[in-house]
Amino acid sequence: MINFATEILIEVTEKIFKIKEELGKAQPENIQQLEEFRIYFLGKKGVIQELFTDFKSVEPDKRKEVGMLLNELKKSAENKFEELKKALTAETHTSQLLDLTRPVDLINLGSRHPLSIVRNEIIRIFQRVGFIVNEGPEIEDDWHNFTALNFPPEHPARDMQDTFFIEKSEEKGDIALRTHTSSVQVRIMESNKPPIRSIFPGRVFRNEAISARAHCIFHQVEGLYIDKNVSFADLKQILLYFAKEVFGANTKIRLRPSYFPFTEPSIEVHIKHPVLGWFELGGAGIFRPEVTEPLGVRVPVLAWGIGIDRMALMALGLNDLRELFSYDIENVRLRRTMMRGNHA
Ligand code: DAH
Repeated sequence: MINFATEILIEVTEKIFKIKEELGKAQPENIQQLEEFRIYFLGKKGVIQELFTDFKSVEPDKRKEVGMLLNELKKSAENKFEELKKALTAETHTSQLLDLTRPVDLINLGSRHPLSIVRNEIIRIFQRVGFIVNEGPEIEDDWHNFTALNFPPEHPARDMQDTFFIEKSEEKGDIALRTHTSSVQVRIMESNKPPIRSIFPGRVFRNEAISARAHCIFHQVEGLYIDKNVSFADLKQILLYFAKEVFGANTKIRLRPSYFPFTEPSIEVHIKHPVLGWFELGGAGIFRPEVTEPLGVRVPVLAWGIGIDRMALMALGLNDLRELFSYDIENVRLRRTMMRGNHA
């Protein structure tokens, strides 16, 4: 005959084994399921806690044995929970923070403007033969931009149509955006003693209608070579050296008589591009002594001013100046890549 106490004992023991089996099979796969696992086995109303309540009905002399089983069950449920917790949170970390299959965000790298690439190339060419780089202000006074360069007061270049004036003043003299980088030549001669070998790249401004062939902002690289025995032959060789460095050893140049108020002789320099043919590079000449002597320079002064916008256009295979300031980034990016390819 089975009495009540024995029945309880069997029931509790059976439950312990059943739960132990369940515990062995339980396989939570994520944090949510792990929480369900915890509530089911270890919660205040969970199955193991329930067994502890049942346990109170077990007869005192049998409690020791059952108690051991029960504690063992609880311990192994706790251990399994801790282990699973570690494993599952580690997994979450790797999957959330370190998804190695995720495509990366593309970084848009900044890069140089085509004009800067051309300007830097020109600087390197002159640096190789001992020229240094100087700069002057874009906002210039009448003296440096015109008067010191022998532009007579009624010269058309001073006209409102060509010059962007900032301040017009009879007493103090006009202030304007420089119309050429030749203004820097005056500044260099004022404050340096010969020999001088220097170039000055910079922006210049002329009040012109913007079109494919003209812009009100453009870029020049001015050059100055001042020394005791320099002559027209040196000027010619520097310009030829420059042309060959830019377009290759077979490049030709052409010098045409021209007029600039501050030089005599004055020339226009043309270069033959291997594919596009002749184009005008800029102006050059030997400074008039009546211009350089008041600046304290008594030796020959060779000078030139190169327009570089046309060269940048050629390098990019474009023929509209406005494209240099275009916001069609894709077009410029594509062409710049081609340009890099050509130069490599
Ligand atoms: N400044 C002239 C221009 O903008 C170019 C020029 C001519 C520069 C003769 C010179 C030079 O240095 O000697 O058209």
